[in-house]
Amino acid sequence: MTVTSTKSARVAEWWRAQRTRVLWATVVSVVAVAVVVLVARWIRGTPGGQDFIASYPGILAPPEATPVGIPAWLGWQHFLNSFFLLLIVRTGYQLRSKKRPPGFWTRDNTRWPHTARAPRRLGIFLWFHLWLDAFWVLNGIVYVVLLFATGQWLRIVPTDWAVVPNALSAALQYGSLEWPSENSWVVYNALQQLAYFAIVFIASPLAILTGLRLSSVWPVEGPLVRAVPERFARALHYPVMLFFLAFTFVHVVLVLMTGALRKLNQMYAARDAEDWIGFAVFAASVAVMVVAWIIAKPPLLKRIAANSGRVQG
Ligand code: HEM
Ligand code: HEM
Repeated sequence: MTVTSTKSARVAEWWRAQRTRVLWATVVSVVAVAVVVLVARWIRGTPGGQDFIASYPGILAPPEATPVGIPAWLGWQHFLNSFFLLLIVRTGYQLRSKKRPPGFWTRDNTRWPHTARAPRRLGIFLWFHLWLDAFWVLNGIVYVVLLFATGQWLRIVPTDWAVVPNALSAALQYGSLEWPSENSWVVYNALQQLAYFAIVFIASPLAILTGLRLSSVWPVEGPLVRAVPERFARALHYPVMLFFLAFTFVHVVLVLMTGALRKLNQMYAARDAEDWIGFAVFAASVAVMVVAWIIAKPPLLKRIAANSGRVQG
């Protein structure tokens, strides 16, 4: 057999294996969804279920000081967050593949800032991952500062334990396919609020902490070494990314299925309307992400990296 035909046989085999996996995953998901819907509908049909939803409608009245609407700055922060995360996730997968990167960068230590430790050689994907992280964290800090400066935090930080039964109620309503119908210009439902809180105030700090632990900025000796064990960071960094991906998938599907035009206006055009303007801005933002995806490849990255150090490979 020639080399090419062995290779194409292997590719065909790989596709066959993928097909079986996809088929199984589809069957299991369809059955799981059917079971969830049936159970949720059954619970909703019982008197106890009806009482529960009547007492906890899934939406809490927002505290009095809560601002109405989504300001333009929030739309910008939200877009930049998606933009950086897209490339962070791509470089994360490139790092995880453990393949030899197509280039390496060593910081020029004669330039400011000088460090006592000699610079370590970084693969070009890790170099890019770390730059993206820096921009993403900066964007996140601006977002959190503005959230608290404007009172906008009241929309995504629960201030009442009633959020728990209300989130359960909202889950039951999603599950039974009779979805809660909050007006997200004024208030998020309890499940949305918990999800937004979790991604901003739990998952993001966890990604930052574990990422810093794996990076060379973390001290190699002293109390901080044991405060966050490296094994812990290595074990968590990737699952945190899976959480980001799962959140984003459900989030975007729900946005698109619950009055997409209005929601896209709210988040991408800072207005509460049903026309196509928000959609147009959203489409433009996706185009920007596609262009970044296409051009942010090793040749360009290496050219940029060469400005601040030695690039090899
Ligand atoms: C301040 C934020 C972050 C820093 C400092 C950081 C840093 C790092 C470092 C140093 C590595 C290489 C680890 C190694 O030595 O193998 C890495 C790998 C990785 N990063 Fe990040 N990261 C950050 C945020 C994120 C975020 C937000 C995501 C995804 C949503 C992410 C996804 C990944 C993935 C998937 C890997 C490969 C992990 C593996 O091989 O299992 N990172 N990151
Ligand atoms: C690019 C696809 C995305 C679209 C179309 C989208 C759309 C929206 C919309 C319409 C809202 C406000 C209305 C509502 O919740 O019903 C929203 C809020 C939010 N989204 Fe997204 N989103 C996207 C990606 C992401 C990603 C990747 C994250 C984070 C990992 C994220 C995190 C959030 C958060 C935290 C809020 C609440 C913000 C606040 O009110 O302070 N979104 N999104």
